[in-house]
Amino acid sequence: MRNIMVTGGAGFIGSHTCVELLQNGYDICVVDNFSNSSPAALDAVRTITGRDFPSYCCDLLEEEKLGQIFEEQQIDAVIHFAGLKAVGESVQKPVLYYHNNVTGTLNLLRQMELHGVRRLVFSSSATVYGENNPIPYREDMPTGQTTNPYGTTKAMIEQILQDLCKSDSRWNTMLLRYFNPIGAHPSGLIGENPNGIPNNLMPYIMRVAQGALPYLNVFGNDYPTRDGTGVRDYIHVCDLAVGHGKALDALFAQEGASIYNLGTGHGSSVLEVVKTFEQESGVPVPYQFAPRRAGDLPEYYADAAKAQQELGWQARYTLADMCRDSWNFIRKQGAAEKKAGDSE
Ligand code: WQD
Repeated sequence: MRNIMVTGGAGFIGSHTCVELLQNGYDICVVDNFSNSSPAALDAVRTITGRDFPSYCCDLLEEEKLGQIFEEQQIDAVIHFAGLKAVGESVQKPVLYYHNNVTGTLNLLRQMELHGVRRLVFSSSATVYGENNPIPYREDMPTGQTTNPYGTTKAMIEQILQDLCKSDSRWNTMLLRYFNPIGAHPSGLIGENPNGIPNNLMPYIMRVAQGALPYLNVFGNDYPTRDGTGVRDYIHVCDLAVGHGKALDALFAQEGASIYNLGTGHGSSVLEVVKTFEQESGVPVPYQFAPRRAGDLPEYYADAAKAQQELGWQARYTLADMCRDSWNFIRKQGAAEKKAGDSE
């Protein structure tokens, strides 16, 4: 059985991918510093799959410790999710972001090379298309001028991985460019629930629906889109997880670096997301229009044909499914927290 190291495996996309890999018959070993996640997510992965696996609390900046994990584990490939991801914070703390994301990846690559592990799937982002490409985004478009350090770290790591594959034909990598991941596992046991006031649309809608925040600010209603609000390609996190499973299968058969968009190929506006959520949950989401958010593009979505043709992968969940599963997770988590509070 192949053994896959999953860095950032306790995070939102990482935990869903762990479920998919375990269900596909891979063994996994998780490396996470739990800076924005919890070991409880890994217990939930064990509950969902009925399978156990090792996990290590390790930061990729601790290269020696990482090396020891490669000594202990026989690793066949790595899926690399670990990284800081808050766009606004990256503008405030660029050195932190470059150090954590880029140096962390370089440490990982060095340890992989030292231990003869040369297959990697990298968690990239549609943000690398920058500001100037026409929509829909295709993988062969030039990666554009990124608008924040977070996005630049993704573009830099893509470049590093492509250079590495060019330099040594034993290296194989897959660069997966995600669009806007939302939703949660249908079990409601894993999902996304960021600390503090959320930056992203769906987590913010959840807080408003829970009554923790009074209303949603819709950033801009004067964009040249069908209803004036921003349009994005929202994709169910379980579809993304399946995409990783397919990419991993293909990684063992390919040579060099490949790039795939993981999106639905279809955009939804902010107001469409709000309306769909209200329909699915039966909970109203009050909103008000606010000025555009700096750095936001009016509209983008994926051309999803390449992943379909070459990986046989296609997104299956609808926006309604995404809203239902996000809400199911939040409600279940609220109930679990209440239960824990009651028994204290
Ligand atoms: C979506 C739409 C907002 C919040 C970001 C990163 C990207 C990727 C995913 C991952 C936009 C609008 C949002 C709110 C709103 N990174 N919005 N009110 O900006 O497309 O992508 O997350 O780790 O790299 O840039 O996602 O969810 O923040 O915004 O109106 O309170 O919702 O203007 O049109 P975004 P988002």
